[in-house]
Amino acid sequence: MSKIRLGFIGVGGIATGRHIPTFRTFDEVEIMAVQDINQERAMKVANELGIPEVFSEIEDMYPYVDAVVVSTPNKYHAPIAIDAMNHGKHVLCEKPMAMTTEECNAMIEAEEENGVKLHIAYHYRFMKEAIAAKKVIERGTIGEPLVVRVKGLRRRKVPGWGVFINQELQGGGALIDYGCHLLDLAMYLMGEVKPVEVSSATYNHLSRSNTVNEWGQFNRDAFEVEDHVSAFIRFNNGASMLFETSWAANIPEDENHISISGAKAGLDVFDMKVNQADEDLMTTMRIDYIKVDETYSRLQAENFISAIKYNTPLTVKSTEAKEVSKIIEAIYLSSKEQRSIRL
Ligand SMILES: NC(=O)c1ccc[n+]([C@@H]2O[C@H](COP(=O)([O-])OP(=O)(O)OC[C@H]3O[C@@H](n4cnc5c(N)ncnc54)[C@H](O)[C@@H]3O)[C@@H](O)[C@H]2O)c1
Repeated sequence: MSKIRLGFIGVGGIATGRHIPTFRTFDEVEIMAVQDINQERAMKVANELGIPEVFSEIEDMYPYVDAVVVSTPNKYHAPIAIDAMNHGKHVLCEKPMAMTTEECNAMIEAEEENGVKLHIAYHYRFMKEAIAAKKVIERGTIGEPLVVRVKGLRRRKVPGWGVFINQELQGGGALIDYGCHLLDLAMYLMGEVKPVEVSSATYNHLSRSNTVNEWGQFNRDAFEVEDHVSAFIRFNNGASMLFETSWAANIPEDENHISISGAKAGLDVFDMKVNQADEDLMTTMRIDYIKVDETYSRLQAENFISAIKYNTPLTVKSTEAKEVSKIIEAIYLSSKEQRSIRL
């Protein structure tokens, strides 16, 4: 294959802030086209970034591209990705994979039937701490993961742009937007585990009241999603996860935290530490330097390009991203029905 011809569907914040600037640094890629339901925005992006083609209909883009990057609101991830795959295009789809497990299944079916690559942009897996943590775990240092604690907490950071507070277009708030990254990374680190039971509670009190917000203004009366979630998740191997995420919470500071207490040792991912005990000592080993030469955005793009060109494995498999969506769906259902959900 010569250059991979790439098209972008939905060219808002993440497409113009991450994907387009990153992919354009690769010699193997030719950025061909953009499409957005906001035609004015598509034209502006194409003009500013020197992208040759602008389309109002996605079908018209297909003859010009080998792969697409889907960065629309969550509601459109599945229909757009499935249509692109049915036209033989490889897809890098923003997270979450889709709104429901059923949609994820349909995406996986389209991927398999068309023999194309489907990558979900869970970019936390490409962070240097994640790469190092995966290595430590695969070396057997911590043994079987037992108890996993996950916190993706923001004190007052409701996204004030886009449609992030719209239930119909996004399918939820802090969990489906932000917590999903940490949930995905934690499950990736745990290895081949399946969730079997979820119990949770979701809240939306704080974002409806008029307190400060660090990420811009939004309409409090139109806030339809959750801003804080707590959950307990059981896995098929006996492991459990204590999970919490927020856009708004009355806590002293933001926190990105994953810790895994394993049968032999424990691991904190951000900042990285390995915690152990033997007969007479308890030790904590701090990881001071992790050799990773690229940014996570470039590593993510490189992984997608390499999978297309050389058939190398994708770091985020669609089947794994589906498990994350399954938990998200169960968290929302558990909170709504005030009961545990068996999966
Ligand atoms: N990986 C990350 O860390 C990360 C960060 C931010 C956003 N995201 C994800 O990226 C997606 C977009 O987020 P954003 O911040 O760029 O939002 P945004 O609102 O800035 O951009 C979305 C763009 O999609 C366009 N659009 C809406 N419906 C469309 C449709 N049916 N077809 C084509 N274009 C359509 C909008 O006009 C807009 O230009 C969301 O799924 C979000 O979860 C991921």
